[in-house]
Amino acid sequence: MLVPNIDPHALAAELSGYHLIDGALVPASSGERFNVLNPATGDPMGYAAAGDAADVEVAVESASRAQKVWAAKTARERGKLVAECGRLLEQHVEELGRLVALESGKALRTESRVEASVLADAFIYFGGLASELKGETIPYNNTSMTMTVREPVGVVGAIIPWNVPMYLMALKVAPALVAGNAVVVKSAEEAPLCCLRVCQLLNQILPPGLFNILSGDGPTCGGPLAAHKDIAKITFTGSVETGRIIHRAAAEKLVPVTLELGGKSPMVIMGDADLERAVDGAVTGMRFTRQGQSCTAASRILVHRSLHDEFIERLSARVDAMRIGDPLDEATDIGTIVSPNQFERVAYYLEKARETAGANIRECSALPTDPKLSKGLFVRPVILSGVTNQHQVCQEEIFGPVTCVIPFDTYEEAIHIANDTEYALAATIWTRDLSTAMRGVNELHAGFVQVNQNVVVQPMLPYGGFKSSGIGKEASLDSMLEHFTHRKTVIINMG
Ligand code: NAI
Ligand code: MG
Repeated sequence: MLVPNIDPHALAAELSGYHLIDGALVPASSGERFNVLNPATGDPMGYAAAGDAADVEVAVESASRAQKVWAAKTARERGKLVAECGRLLEQHVEELGRLVALESGKALRTESRVEASVLADAFIYFGGLASELKGETIPYNNTSMTMTVREPVGVVGAIIPWNVPMYLMALKVAPALVAGNAVVVKSAEEAPLCCLRVCQLLNQILPPGLFNILSGDGPTCGGPLAAHKDIAKITFTGSVETGRIIHRAAAEKLVPVTLELGGKSPMVIMGDADLERAVDGAVTGMRFTRQGQSCTAASRILVHRSLHDEFIERLSARVDAMRIGDPLDEATDIGTIVSPNQFERVAYYLEKARETAGANIRECSALPTDPKLSKGLFVRPVILSGVTNQHQVCQEEIFGPVTCVIPFDTYEEAIHIANDTEYALAATIWTRDLSTAMRGVNELHAGFVQVNQNVVVQPMLPYGGFKSSGIGKEASLDSMLEHFTHRKTVIINMG
């Protein structure tokens, strides 16, 4: 058994340059590789195998073989092994937390360690659901037994992002495995090594070939995976643009997809709201500790005009008290942006705001002064006001630590602004009045609506958006059944 290695530099060196296919670490068939950045220093922290169609071919072939044997096991046997995966991951929380912190720049205490522990929990949760893979009986006639049974779809292709790489991978891999499928994952270029480590650990428990992982560029490695004829289901989390490409690939083969895309999630703070609680909710909801790199980030905060100025003051004071610094330092609340691309993207939107007359850009907290971090991708969190909902910064997903505060006068106006976006992922409403809360729940157009709180995705809750935010739900029993099984209708004529 592999023992936890809490030195992320040493672990990254061990894992550098490999895919994991058929139970073994292997380099890319082309021999190509690419650097993985430590965004806190600007130096490489390791390198990854640059996969292409040839690697996809070997991985899918191995998964197809393994899937047939796996599907023949009883559901409970599969579930027990997946739950065991979760218990193994629990022993590696510190290790995985440190590795993802080094690789992605997310602060260890507030983000990375938390991700590693919810990762373990997702495997335990789905492992326990194996005996829920039930069909139904249908009262068709008296001489037959008529029923539906659930079957695995086969080999699942999973393309994942870098913001919560291990957990978002788990929400795909764990239910897919429990339902009797094999999986080939394509990790994100920015965070391949933490996901490779998870796969390596789980391959100590799972049969070879069942869970393979490839690293590489989107079009060169993810493209052939999505297009592969033996990939019977594609599950993707990432940008709207790539989501459309994936959906087209699935349309060519007529296979089902799940797409978790972006958001521009509104937080509606009514005039009667508990303001302190709403400020707490904005800090959590905006994921300031993750530099706002979240698809559900509360990036549009609509505040009743009577509370607008005070809200900005209190929120700025809270964010000012947070410490930006070395992601691996326990005292750090906020680490770095993940990559130079994302860093430039945030700078682009801030420039757009700066060019706007009347825009008020409140930059919070302070950049680190440690010379070791001078090339780090640090950004001060921004609370932006004085722009309308029509502004580009309020309509497009920034995926950085920038939230826009917009005042409103009436409930109707607030709901109109909240729904006036191409996205529909998450929304919250803050009020002490039950009937306003209930109206908001009904009228906010989003896949995940909360009242007076802003908690993150939980494994048991269906999660996913409408409109450009995607197709289908993840997490929960329902989505395991819906997205990782086929239903077969069976009539046994006994007349
Ligand atoms: P992306 O959508 O390009 O990347 C996500 C994954 O898709 C990565 O594994 C990437 O390699 C893969 N990919 C890219 N092009 C592909 C293709 N043609 N075929 C198959 N796979 C492909 O997102 P990126 O470039 O990392 O970030 C851009 C923006 O996307 C962010 O600023 C943010 O707005 C959004 N995003 C949303 C996420 C979410 O959680 N919904 C996560 C990451 C990014
Ligand atoms: Mg991209």
